[in-house]
Amino acid sequence: MPAKIIDGKAFAATVRAQVADHVAKLEGDHGITPGLAVVLVGEDPASQVYVRSKGKQTVEVGMKSVEHKLAADTSEADLLKVIDDLNNNTEIHGILVQLPLPKHLDEDLVINSIAPEKDVDGFHISNVGLLGTGQKSMVPCTPLGCLMMLRDHHGSLSGMDAVVIGRSNIVGKPMAQLLLGDSCTVTIAHSRTKDLPDVVRRADIVVAAVGRPEMVPGDWIKPGATVIDVGINRLDAPEKGEGKTKLVGDVRYESCAAVAGAITPVPGGVGPMTIACLLANTVTACCRANGLPEPEGLTA
Ligand code: GUN
Repeated sequence: MPAKIIDGKAFAATVRAQVADHVAKLEGDHGITPGLAVVLVGEDPASQVYVRSKGKQTVEVGMKSVEHKLAADTSEADLLKVIDDLNNNTEIHGILVQLPLPKHLDEDLVINSIAPEKDVDGFHISNVGLLGTGQKSMVPCTPLGCLMMLRDHHGSLSGMDAVVIGRSNIVGKPMAQLLLGDSCTVTIAHSRTKDLPDVVRRADIVVAAVGRPEMVPGDWIKPGATVIDVGINRLDAPEKGEGKTKLVGDVRYESCAAVAGAITPVPGGVGPMTIACLLANTVTACCRANGLPEPEGLTA
């Protein structure tokens, strides 16, 4: 039987609709509008695209969107001042500093200067520690989106064998924590893992987040397993015409889809869920800041 295709684009639309409903309720019942501030330093073209998209979707769900676009040579002190002002601004409930930052800026220092309760990326060390100890935290958006799709497909994940390929702070490590929180038996595999194909073959759930195009072939996948492909890699596609490119994930889609029980495509899988979860985190942060109940189904 061919794998079920997990449609992240459609799922993200339902998450945004839930966020929009909750935003309308906050406005109607309490006169509160959740606010998200995005800080972009420099002119990295990919970051500019992401930031534009975040701003547009924030407004579409009825939230307030603030963008701070700073010059590439902005000093650390000036950037920290912008963050401090946002930390103290009661109309702003979520703050996101777009990464990567220019090289002269200390990313850890900058991220850890965001008030943890407004850290909608979930990158602040306090949130990392809270997640690792199973306490209420802000959860990184991409792993949160993966978790939502897995819960939606499987219901309970309890007792399942999960292998996360990749150990980044943004995806691999928090993903593993979330799966552990849902009572999976979790393995984090990486570039030094011995017998990687055999490790992956044991998994009921495979989350590929290595950033290596089409690294995982179908014969690594246990029949019926669920494959979540976090990779977004742009490759030349001369077969589509001169100068053309295509997006591929970290798994070989056709061969994995032939074996898996369910799989996320690239594009249209995990990607759209990331911004949807950013909006979800912002509404969650706003509810917490105001002592109001959090939206159900939009948190870990
Ligand atoms: N750059 C690429 N992805 C992300 C993300 O999820 N958050 C931030 N802040 N920067 C990014």
